[in-house]
Amino acid sequence: MRSQRAKVDQPDHDVQSADRVDGKAFPAKGTLRERLNFALNYAVLAPSSHNTQPWRFIVQEQSVQVCADRTRALPVVDPYDRELIISCGAALFNLRVALGYFGEKYSITTFPYPADADVLAEVRVSADGFSDPDVALLLPAIRARATNRGPFTAWPMPMRVRDALTKAAAQEGAGIQFVRSYERRLQVAELVAEGDKRQFANAAFRRELASWLHGSRTDDGLPGYSVGAGELLNKATPIVSAAIRTFNFGDRVASSHHDLAAGSPLLLVLSTSRDDPESWLCAGQALERVLLVAAQAGYSASYLNQPIEVRALRPMLRALVESEKYPQVLLRIGRAKSAAVPVSPRRPLAAVVL
Ligand SMILES: Cc1cc2nc3c(=O)[nH]c(=O)nc-3n(C[C@H](O)[C@H](O)[C@H](O)COP(=O)(O)O)c2cc1C
Repeated sequence: MRSQRAKVDQPDHDVQSADRVDGKAFPAKGTLRERLNFALNYAVLAPSSHNTQPWRFIVQEQSVQVCADRTRALPVVDPYDRELIISCGAALFNLRVALGYFGEKYSITTFPYPADADVLAEVRVSADGFSDPDVALLLPAIRARATNRGPFTAWPMPMRVRDALTKAAAQEGAGIQFVRSYERRLQVAELVAEGDKRQFANAAFRRELASWLHGSRTDDGLPGYSVGAGELLNKATPIVSAAIRTFNFGDRVASSHHDLAAGSPLLLVLSTSRDDPESWLCAGQALERVLLVAAQAGYSASYLNQPIEVRALRPMLRALVESEKYPQVLLRIGRAKSAAVPVSPRRPLAAVVL
């Protein structure tokens, strides 16, 4: 499916663009360091909040450390780095997929250095390591997956696909709550709209969002249309950024996200039993596994995280989905009316690998 994506906003890098990585080029006879570097081309295709790509990878002789890059944090929308660590978890999952696909066995220690909270996981490759063939099979889906914020068809998702998504989350230690009835979906849509209004009323939120919009950025950040403020802001120009920073488009964004949520055939909450960095890393791996299983089955997804990001609304979402667990991500999933989504850019590997 990634091949269906239109190539826009794609900068020219003098290093190989991760988005164009070709598995046939895997250096099977290369050193372990070269093989690990190659696998990281897939890690960086993970989704991340505001496309901040808040990760760094330290490659050693036998291992890769997956680290949080807190210089790319979003202190207003994500003050505890919860989404930052979820994003790194998604990159860790892609790394596992790629290592498995290329026949490398590995073991993982999460938070290996209590004194250094930025090292989230150490992935050690060795012959007595672990391999998971189910995970390895997801490699083609890494390039097929793309956040699709457009409308979905009304077709309900078959039960077997829902079950596969539930299983994918459970295998990573997370839970899924489906928003089942239409009435409930409308209630969740109201919460999303309320979240938008509260976020956009905050000038610091708008400034932070504007600083990650294209116009000033080329290899990270978001296109203007992703904000959901309608045709007015559909172009990736500096004007979008200035407009978001200056004006409160809360009502417009709220109404567009409300309609998107209410009109989506399936809303689901990904949740964890605890709400701490370990759980967020786990949620990130679960998120990417769910997204890849969905992509493999031909489904697209996008995010409506506002009721989780706005602290006062999170318990209300939790109550609506009747779960004791902590909501981490709110997704809409369905068959996209248009599968051709612009490729979102990635930083060159050289910028994230040490
Ligand atoms: C933890 C997390 C939170 C996200 N929240 C939102 C969101 O609230 N709204 C949105 O449109 N996209 C959201 N995204 C999607 C990112 O914007 C997207 O992954 C990024 O722009 C890269 O694009 P891609 O997913 O197509 O590769 C989120 C992604 C992650 C991992």
